Amino acid sequence: MNKGRFIVFEGIDGSGKSTQLKLLGRRLRERNLKVYETAEPTDQPIGSLVRRILRGELQCVDPALAALFAADRLQHLADPDTGLLKLIKEGVHVICDRYYFSSYAYQSVRAPMEWIIQANALSAQMLKPDLNLFLDVPVKVCLQRLSASRGNLELYEAEANLAAVREKYFEAFSRLKQEEAVQIIDGRGSPEEVAEAVWQAVGRLFETDDPDQ
Ligand code: ADP
Ligand code: TYD
Repeated sequence: MNKGRFIVFEGIDGSGKSTQLKLLGRRLRERNLKVYETAEPTDQPIGSLVRRILRGELQCVDPALAALFAADRLQHLADPDTGLLKLIKEGVHVICDRYYFSSYAYQSVRAPMEWIIQANALSAQMLKPDLNLFLDVPVKVCLQRLSASRGNLELYEAEANLAAVREKYFEAFSRLKQEEAVQIIDGRGSPEEVAEAVWQAVGRLFETDDPDQ
């Protein structure tokens, strides 16, 4: 049996990741492929703890939060029943909203990137994405989209911080260009236009797939 692909959407908050994830999921299912849509932080116990910290309900020092993101990721990957490694081995295609590049970018605004990369080394060893898709949208546009869709902005959503995160993403892509597959997608168009650009980037990864296998 063919292994499943692993496609990750990256981008700053409001860049359209979850919208594009759903559109790609629909497109793959229309081709009768087995698809699992997921996101980090997860809705499992460690991810739920992370979300409470992001909402400001609990306090946590930066290095501890970085370690919690890494721990949530390891559970997401290696859970014996529901983990991504198991699904991919069974031939399911996994599309994921955020993975370790999110940690490299967000957590390295206030800590050395090298440390964050080290903290996620086990995940990178266990599962590298077949493709990281970075949806590139200007910070101001992202903030307009977010404030139109919800009231309260979270911990990382201040304008200056998102601008710094965007810079860190590009620093991480450049630093890891030998070992990571990354494609930058212009995310400023309509959802349908961006979905077309996403398909141009990922479609070839599914060309050889026989859904009946
Ligand atoms: P993310 O998951 O990256 O935070 P979302 O997909 O949730 O982003 O999109 C954030 C907001 O912007 C949502 O209200 C969504 O409907 C809207 N949105 C998503 N994609 C686009 C787009 N291409 N153009 C305009 N608005 C968009
Ligand atoms: P998410 O729910 O994807 O937010 P959004 O849909 O608005 O993009 O992620 C929640 C927040 O967690 C977001 O601000 C990015 C941050 N984050 C990190 O700082 N490090 C990480 O490793 C991950 C996965 C997310």
